[in-house]
Order: sequence, then C-alpha cells, then structure tokens
Amino acid sequence: MRIADRISNLGTETAFAVSAEAATFAAQGNRVFPFHLGDINLPTPSTVVDGAQKAIADGKTGYCPNAGIPQLREALAADLAASHNTPYEAENIVVQPGGKPTIGKFILTMMNPGDEVLYPNPGYPIYESQIEFNGGKAVPYGYVEGDANFAIDFDTIERGLTDKTRLLILNDLQNPMGAESSPEELERLAQLVRDRNLYVLADEAYFDMRYAGKSTSFVEQPGMAERTVVLYTFSKKFAMTGWRLGASVGPKEIVDVIAKINVNDESCSNHFIQYGALAGLEGDQSEVQAILNTLEARRDATAAGLNAIEGIDTFIPNATFYLFPNVTNLMEAKGLNDYEEFRRAALHATGVSFTNRLHFGREQPNEPNKYIRFAYSGIDVPDIEEGLGLFKEWAES
Ligand SMILES: Cc1ncc(COP(=O)(O)O)c(C=O)c1O
Repeated sequence: MRIADRISNLGTETAFAVSAEAATFAAQGNRVFPFHLGDINLPTPSTVVDGAQKAIADGKTGYCPNAGIPQLREALAADLAASHNTPYEAENIVVQPGGKPTIGKFILTMMNPGDEVLYPNPGYPIYESQIEFNGGKAVPYGYVEGDANFAIDFDTIERGLTDKTRLLILNDLQNPMGAESSPEELERLAQLVRDRNLYVLADEAYFDMRYAGKSTSFVEQPGMAERTVVLYTFSKKFAMTGWRLGASVGPKEIVDVIAKINVNDESCSNHFIQYGALAGLEGDQSEVQAILNTLEARRDATAAGLNAIEGIDTFIPNATFYLFPNVTNLMEAKGLNDYEEFRRAALHATGVSFTNRLHFGREQPNEPNKYIRFAYSGIDVPDIEEGLGLFKEWAES
C-alpha cells in the first residue's frame, strides 16, 4: 500500500490509545477507574434532546447551509456577544461538527507552509499535529508551576519568536493543566500579538466549564477580536461530546473562508442537531447548571484524593475538568522514571487509569518535573474515592 508522504506528518490523540488499553484491561475482568479521557458520563440536557427529536420529526433531515442554520448562528452570536463583550453577529459564526474542526480549518486558512506557530505544550495534541501536517513549524511554549496555578512561561514565547512567526494558539482554561491566565498575562500576550502582527486561535473549549469566578475571553483585549478566531464547542457545556457540534467565531473574512472549507469537507454540520443546540442555548439552563455542580463535586473529590497522597500537592482549578499533579517525587519514590511504565504500573496494580504529559505534545528537552493528568468528567464520586484510595495505597507502598 502506498500512503501519501504528507501523512507521515499527521499526529494523533494518544489519549484514545490509553482508553483502548483500559478497555482491554477491563475486558480481562479487572475493575477500571477511568480518569483518562475528557469525556462526560452525564446525560445531555433534555432541552437539547427534545429540540433535536422535534427537528427530526419536523423533517430537518436534509442538507442545510454550509455555515450553519441562521437561527443557530444568530443565537450563538447573541450569546457570545454578551459573554465576550464583543459585538458578534451571525456573520461572525460558522457552525462546525465539534470544536476540534476549528483547529485544522484555522491553520489551513491562516498559515502558509513554512510559517511558524506558537502553541502550548503540554497542550491539546491536535495543535502540533495540524500545524505540522499543513507544512508549518510548531514552536512550543510552556508553563511554570506556581502555588495555585500554572502560568505561561513568557521566556519560552520570547525564545520561540522569529520573523516567521505568524500565529499564536492560546488555550486559556487549559487542557491538560487546568491553567487559567491572569488579566496581566492576557494583556502581555495581546501586546505581543499586536507588536508582532500575529493572528490567534483562542481555544475556548472550557470557557463555560467553570465552578467559581467568571471566564474572560482573550478577544476582550484591545484589537484582539479583529485577529482572533474563537473555538466554541457544545461538547462540554451541554455534555454533547458524541453529538459533534461547535463553531468557529471570528472576523467575517476568516469565517467565510472556513465556511468554504466546510463545503469541501462535510457540506454542513448535522441539520437536526443544530436545532437541538439552539433549544439548549435558548431553553432553561437548570440541567446545564446541574452538570457543573456534579463536576464540581467530582473535582473536589479528585483533588482531595490526590492531595492525600504523600508527595502530591495539586492545586484546585476553578475551571476545566482536569487536574495535573506533579508526580516527580512519587515516580522517583516508586523507582520509575519512564512515564508509560509508571502509568501501566498504576493501572495494573490499582485499575486507576490516567494519561500523562506524553499525551499532550512532544516532551521538551530537560523538563524539570513530571506530570500526570486526571480527568474527572467520566467518573462518579464513589468511584473517584475508591480508586484514589487504592492509588494512595500503591503510591505509598
Ligand atoms: C482544548 C480542547 N480543544 C478542543 C477540544 C475538542 O472538542 P470537541 O470534542 O468539541 O471537538 C477538546 C476536547 O477535549 C479540548 O480539550
């Protein structure tokens, strides 16, 4: 079989491989405590389900406009105009089958081969994959661990900037770290973007997954709405990961190109699901709030379980559904220096399944610390407590 050369540059999301490994372990009769995947084991709100079912019954089963149904574009524009303090209109919204498609389509639209793109690492692995697949150079920037957050390491950004840097990817409310940028950090980034005339992808997959405080979008920084595409997704807020619906939000000139890519890729996003999402946006929000309440209790249980382990001290993020504990001492105490060896040893001894730093972009030379990621979106509190109790026993033995 002759596969095209360009495919050698295409990466993947290796967290799915951890999932498969955990499933195999479970199929062998073992108990698994699933902290590996950022999926949600809670039902989609009935507003969305009813809206989609009605749309099917009403015959919304044919093609629809490539950029999305006008009602959803309008409703999302109004919603985001309010939450982002930005005068978005329907023309600024192009509906996508999920949040993820915005990443590749933004890069395809804004990056020429040979251009350099700054992206967060550790970070969502699809950035690296799409940049390199499309012939760009992926230039990582990092984070430094503080007492109660991870902060962007501006030294790595300064070092990464060249006269070929064109784009910056920002994932504020960050996967895998749960990091949240301070207002000063966002200001400093915006200054850099203006000085260097960059364009920005603001991946806001977790904008609404917040338990305290208020999310502030990067587009609120002066001049940023004109040069930023926001990745919006229904996946997390409405527990709709498998429905596949999201949007790219930004300047009309960019949105129009992305709509043209839609014509070439999938024609349109699923027609009746857009009516479900519309009903979700416009309907009663109590089930959406209930999802957040459930996740908050899981966050607290996961943080408490992890922090009870000798050698682990993880901060409690106000947003996302991830914890990213530093396990440098723990790995050393267990005599395990290799990330995957450590992960498998924990899985086989305890059934606790998690991902590690290697699943979130290429490891950089001389990283001083080791980290693993716990996603608590797909596991109930009693299982969190039981699993982390076993993990503690193993870790401290
Ligand atoms: C940072 C980040 N961006 C984008 C996505 C993609 O979301 P979706 O499932 O809506 O495609 C995810 C999903 O986990 C994510 O963590």
